[in-house]
Amino acid sequence: MQRGGTMEVLQVDGVKKSFRGDMSFASREVLHGVSFSAGAGEILGFLGPNGAGKTTTIKIILGLLRPDSGSVQIFGKPLADRSVMKRVGYLPENPYIYPHLTLSEFLRFCADLSDVPANVAASRVREVSSLLGLEEHANRRTKGFSKGMLQRAGLAQAILDEPDLLILDEPFSGLDPIGRKTVKDILLDLKGRGKTIFFSSHILPDMEALCDRACIIKDGAVIRTVGLAEVFRIGEGMVEITARGCPVSELDPVSGYMDSVAVNGEEIFLVVRKRELVRTVVQHLYNSGAEVLNVSNHHPSLEEVFMSEINGKITEERESAGIQHYAGHATGGGER
Ligand SMILES: Nc1ncnc2c1ncn2[C@@H]1O[C@H](COP(=O)(O)OP(=O)(O)OP(=O)(O)O)[C@@H](O)[C@H]1O
Ligand SMILES: [Mg+2]
Repeated sequence: MQRGGTMEVLQVDGVKKSFRGDMSFASREVLHGVSFSAGAGEILGFLGPNGAGKTTTIKIILGLLRPDSGSVQIFGKPLADRSVMKRVGYLPENPYIYPHLTLSEFLRFCADLSDVPANVAASRVREVSSLLGLEEHANRRTKGFSKGMLQRAGLAQAILDEPDLLILDEPFSGLDPIGRKTVKDILLDLKGRGKTIFFSSHILPDMEALCDRACIIKDGAVIRTVGLAEVFRIGEGMVEITARGCPVSELDPVSGYMDSVAVNGEEIFLVVRKRELVRTVVQHLYNSGAEVLNVSNHHPSLEEVFMSEINGKITEERESAGIQHYAGHATGGGER
């Protein structure tokens, strides 16, 4: 499965993985044939709830776990070809940073492991430390580092050897807003230089701000890979109406025009499917004694798409009609 005929930087095809239970020989399949791919210069987000299988997939990509079946290719080479790992940077979910080493020593050690030439290693270590805002801590033992500082050190290690493919398991975990901004800028800069980035996260706004596409995984299966541009097109032509003073039951005659209805206290929040229907809905609201507070274009967030996918609330018949709409807004949708 290659898009556009170009070679994918990362290609995961039908990966399955089972784990044996602690107490029995029965094994449980946690990945049921996971497939997706990322192209050069792309940022692909890996989005899914706890236990969905993100870390397991990432470990398989890195060759730290062996898949039961399926395949992984990096730069067109199979997993068995480890030479390609030189071009890959990796941030584990819980990076282990040797506590008795200073940050500089740790990064120098990583540079040596990655065969960074000795004459550039020292300056490269300084460079990544300062990129991650750790220059003041360069000569401290990492034992005393805070969670966010360790995360920054882990990221410094991941980008040290200027990888062409960066694989990050929850890169924003434990970071304060400044740290998040720093990491976001670093990733966008790398993308600008043609690098490919694959990262998992629960932080939807970070994902929304960074990714070209998001791969949504649930219960060990990819439900959907969605382009961020596509997410915004999903709601194209839909209109949001906020109104007050009208019981939801009054809406029955126009309910067919609605993509979703949410109630938040006195206010009702409607998403009308098409611009042409807005006049009828507004008129109906006025006739029912409602006060219309706001009418505006609807832009679903990645969060709404995510929640819809996770809750399995895609409206199938609408999909088959060639239009994709999402039902099932989280309640309190009027807070925007
Ligand atoms: N070594 C293991 N032995 C047994 N089960 C495992 C093992 N590693 C992971 N699992 C199970 O596989 C499933 C997926 O776990 P995984 O760590 O990949 O999820 P995740 O999507 O990374 O979750 P989180 O968001 O919490 O990091 C879970 O049900 C987990 O219990
Ligand atoms: Mg995980």
